[in-house]
Amino acid sequence: MIGNILKKFDEKFLKTEPRTGDLYAVSALFDTPDQIIHAAEEVSDAGYKKFDVLTPYPIHGMDGAMGLKDTRIGWVAMLGGISGVSLAFLMIWWMVGVNYTNVFGGKPFFNLPPSIPIMFELTVLIASLTLVGALIVIFNKLPLNANPLMDTAFMKSVTSDKFGIYIEAKDTKFNRDEVRALFEKLGSAEVSDIHYPEYDLGKTKNPLLDMKFMGNVAGVAVVTALITYFALNVLIFLPPFSWMHYQPRVNAQTESKFFKDGFSMRKPVEGTVARGFIPYEFKGMPDSLITITPNPVPVTQKVLELGKKRYDTYCSPCHGNYGKGDSRLRGQFPAPPTLHSQKVMNWKDANIYHVITNGQNVMPSYEKSISRDDRWAIIHYVRVLQRSANAPDSDFETK
Ligand code: HEC
Repeated sequence: MIGNILKKFDEKFLKTEPRTGDLYAVSALFDTPDQIIHAAEEVSDAGYKKFDVLTPYPIHGMDGAMGLKDTRIGWVAMLGGISGVSLAFLMIWWMVGVNYTNVFGGKPFFNLPPSIPIMFELTVLIASLTLVGALIVIFNKLPLNANPLMDTAFMKSVTSDKFGIYIEAKDTKFNRDEVRALFEKLGSAEVSDIHYPEYDLGKTKNPLLDMKFMGNVAGVAVVTALITYFALNVLIFLPPFSWMHYQPRVNAQTESKFFKDGFSMRKPVEGTVARGFIPYEFKGMPDSLITITPNPVPVTQKVLELGKKRYDTYCSPCHGNYGKGDSRLRGQFPAPPTLHSQKVMNWKDANIYHVITNGQNVMPSYEKSISRDDRWAIIHYVRVLQRSANAPDSDFETK
């Protein structure tokens, strides 16, 4: 019974031949891959340009037999990529180098390495968008939205067990009788004419003006928009998707009836200490009150390397790479004194620790951004800098 229904359906909707439109092409079917390769070579050699081969599976050597040139899609991708990379370069250069200059740790305004990720992203983005656009519009000839080959017996054969070739009537060399004779000479048992269907979508000059086509496009757009709207604005607020949405909690910056003062955000209880954070016991006290502690971190190669790393990151923008007070901040922050002064040289490690942790005048505290051990490591490195600038003669003696 189902077979019968399918057959009825086929007859009613799919059977579009015989057609009465103009001649679109002459087609031929072959039984073996060798025959179709031979046919493609002959047709190409005979000088036809607007022809194509359709086979149930890819056949090796077909490109060569048809005389196809390399596709130009690669050039389109390259064009898109080059536009993307130059667009990103110009955009970043204009934004951070010209229009909105900002000092970040004394770094140059425009710099290539940090721009590379964005340049890469835009290259890929613009290249792929150009590719898709070019594929649809140029290579697949949108607004052409149907092909006269559709729903033909020829198409049914080449998508199951036959190898087909056709030459379009648009070809400058086309002559119906000659083409038919050529195909018959090549040994095809089924040579047939393919006509445009009556409604003739494939031949319409500009299907963008075709009401039926545009109606379909508009319909799809509306349905997609409705489904998206429903999914994002209605569906996710229905159970069970909403289970996590409604929770007994207060949102930040909102009022709470639970507390007397109405604030929902609470301050930590006095004396609260963050996990892993050790408060500095001389916080805010003058130097004279510091009871001196030795540097608890041992001097090792690793510690010195860590100290250099942290110093270069946190201290060098103001104090300079060698601690000479040669700030890189272009006058946007007062330059500090040298760290090679007698005063700092004579200081105990704890005094420097005090400055880093507590801050000193305009120099801010680094208690929150640099861990305790790292601060001590930085001090070892500051000592290295000092020693390197004031090396005693004994340092140069060879053993
Ligand atoms: C934002 C710029 C800036 C950064 C970053 C900075 N400092 Fe300072 N530092 C200063 C300034 C300015 C002074 C001078 C403060 C004053 O007037 O007493 C100073 C003073 C000092 C002093 C005391 C010098 C003296 O002669 O009194 C030491 C030691 C010091 N800094 C170490 C460091 C270390 C170590 C770091 C890295 C953790 C660091 N600083 C990061 C700006 C900075």
